[in-house]
Amino acid sequence: MSLQELGKSVTEQFTKSFGRPPRWVAAAPGRVNVIGEHTDYNDGFVFPMAIDRYTVIAAAPAADGSKRVELRSTHGDSPATLDLGQALKPAKKGTWYNYPLGVIAGFVARGASPAGFDALIHSTVPLGGGLSSSAALEVSTATLLETMTGKKLDPVEKALLCQKAEHDYAGMPCGIMDQFISVMGKQDHILLLDCRSRQTELIPMTDAGVELLITNTNVKHELTGGEYAKRRAQCEEAARILGVASLRDADAERLERVRSRMDPVVYRRARHVISEIERTVHAAEGVRASNWPTVGQLMYASHASLRDDYDVSCPELDTVVDIALSIGPRGGVHGCRMTGGGFGGCTVALVDAGKVAAISERIAAEYEQRTKIKPTLFVSRPAAGATVLSGG
Ligand code: GLA
Repeated sequence: MSLQELGKSVTEQFTKSFGRPPRWVAAAPGRVNVIGEHTDYNDGFVFPMAIDRYTVIAAAPAADGSKRVELRSTHGDSPATLDLGQALKPAKKGTWYNYPLGVIAGFVARGASPAGFDALIHSTVPLGGGLSSSAALEVSTATLLETMTGKKLDPVEKALLCQKAEHDYAGMPCGIMDQFISVMGKQDHILLLDCRSRQTELIPMTDAGVELLITNTNVKHELTGGEYAKRRAQCEEAARILGVASLRDADAERLERVRSRMDPVVYRRARHVISEIERTVHAAEGVRASNWPTVGQLMYASHASLRDDYDVSCPELDTVVDIALSIGPRGGVHGCRMTGGGFGGCTVALVDAGKVAAISERIAAEYEQRTKIKPTLFVSRPAAGATVLSGG
């Protein structure tokens, strides 16, 4: 289904649910990170692309002209009612509407409080699959509020507002990658983002000969748990011992020099981050040159580092990567790695376009046989970022 069709379908669902048509419809995509994992909060590089899976939000002014907001979702969550006349604060941890609530609070804090409204949210980004369903929800809400309040934000400020919503309202101390790519994604481009300077470069990915194949292990990843925050703290400790502001400023040689003064786990965390930043820059060069074997090797190396040094993989993710390796370049697979925060979720593989069907079948069958879990596989071209579908 195209994004326009998806917008139409959510418009119809809104009309059915609220008994009148929406005035505004906005959408924001999920993402897959090609390489550069757990580097964003270390001031490093990341290399994500938006996927053609979107969160769509349709809204209309409150029927009674009040400051009341009603948020409904098509995913079976109970609806939320907010009163914009009162100070906003986070709901209980784990509550689904904390994401849009945090974004609304960000607009209120900038003096752009919307009037009351009803909204319906629908998403084709798999929830909890490591494809940034949360960022898609935040950024779609922000895009809706921009058009609703007339307060157009600069893209960087918009991404940061959404990141703050996730920190303060969802309690997840994420980096900036997911919100940036959901705001700035561009069709047929992968985004090279320098998380220190926040400079971005859109690198074309137009070679029709290769595809990015996403495999959802269907093992839910849960990042609001403590592991993510623990990794961040370990990276900060490594930077402190190294005497640098962030791991971006270190290199492999410098790390070896302080190794004896570092806890072995902290050392391994730093080794992952430092090597991953380097791999990311090389992979971006590889994409620019359509050098798929090199990009693929870097993806495998990234996976091994995340598994062995950063300890954020899981047996199911490793199984998909093993299967990819056994298919090999002759079978059309150049590389494969876990993508996103880890502990479940998805892998991303770089594969020959003509062999997608055969590769998908083989991964699905072997994965199910080995894990007893049915995976979900799909390909996506790099897709467009957040957009207003109607009412803009
Ligand atoms: C999650 C976070 C991102 C990033 C990745 C790991 O997706 O939201 O900021 O840190 O994990 O690369």
